[in-house]
Amino acid sequence: MIEQFKKEVDTGLSIPKKTLPSKYFYDKKGGALFVEIMHSKEYYLTRAELEIFTNQTQNIIDALELKRDTYFELIELGAGDGLKTKQLLKELSKQNYTFDYIPIDISQNALDDLEQTLTKEITTLSINKKQGDYFDVLESIKGNKHPKVILFLGSNMGNMSDKIASKFITNLSHNLNPNDKLFLGVDLIKPKEIVLPAYNDSKGITKAFNLNLLERINKELGGNFVVNNFGHQPEYSEKEGVCKSYLVSYIEQKVFIQALNKTFHFEKGEKILTEISRKYNDAIIQKIIDKSYFKVVNKLTDTNNYFANISLTRT
Ligand code: AVI
Repeated sequence: MIEQFKKEVDTGLSIPKKTLPSKYFYDKKGGALFVEIMHSKEYYLTRAELEIFTNQTQNIIDALELKRDTYFELIELGAGDGLKTKQLLKELSKQNYTFDYIPIDISQNALDDLEQTLTKEITTLSINKKQGDYFDVLESIKGNKHPKVILFLGSNMGNMSDKIASKFITNLSHNLNPNDKLFLGVDLIKPKEIVLPAYNDSKGITKAFNLNLLERINKELGGNFVVNNFGHQPEYSEKEGVCKSYLVSYIEQKVFIQALNKTFHFEKGEKILTEISRKYNDAIIQKIIDKSYFKVVNKLTDTNNYFANISLTRT
């Protein structure tokens, strides 16, 4: 992990348009900040998806064409705190569906917390957590023939480029069997007046989340970033449907990273791209799944039309 981190920081800061991968946001502090972001008043995504899971639980069950007498595996990629999924799990348990809930997350802490809350609240739930990068863990799941429902919520796919998302979804479809389902949560394209505040909340939580990437480099790779010399800057184009988050160097400065034994130079105003958060419409989704074995069967949206949960079937 540390070798990979070193390599990606080195590559990202050595190219003319500097970039750092967003997956490194999520150390212990970053994970906690992300939970705070999800509860902030500007970050509408979580609330919108929770509304769908709370008010349309039966529609979700119907869209997934689940059968009460057939065991299935409910696999969640990047489970986080499970707030939304809990609504579905409660209803499935109440209606006596037979299934195992298999949350996959990079953070063992998040998984342990999730297991604790869920087993307390849903005593009949069978939970089988798996820690790891979900790209890798998926490989280990493909062996058995049990029907599967994959949950990929929170617009997590939006942090991938369309090319990578398409590869991932296609690969996922190859690892599944006909009639298995994918339930995808995606943020929809909307005006910048709504999107930008979600990535620049008034309490500065998102700013701290972005800057934590530099703190992490300082802590784990012996960097000497002066964090206050950088600012947080999200940019959004409604036409493209992409929000990009940057760290901006306030001054001309040099930063030394011990683990790389290398100095990096920053111009005043120079930006580091740290995250893309893609927003979607039907055409973009169709393009992403085009090469896969998935077909869209249903789409649920919240009352504001901010967010969609799309159910896809493996043909
Ligand atoms: C996890 N992911 C979908 C979030 C998003 O909206 O792109 C991460 C995030 N970054 C800033 N705020 C939230």
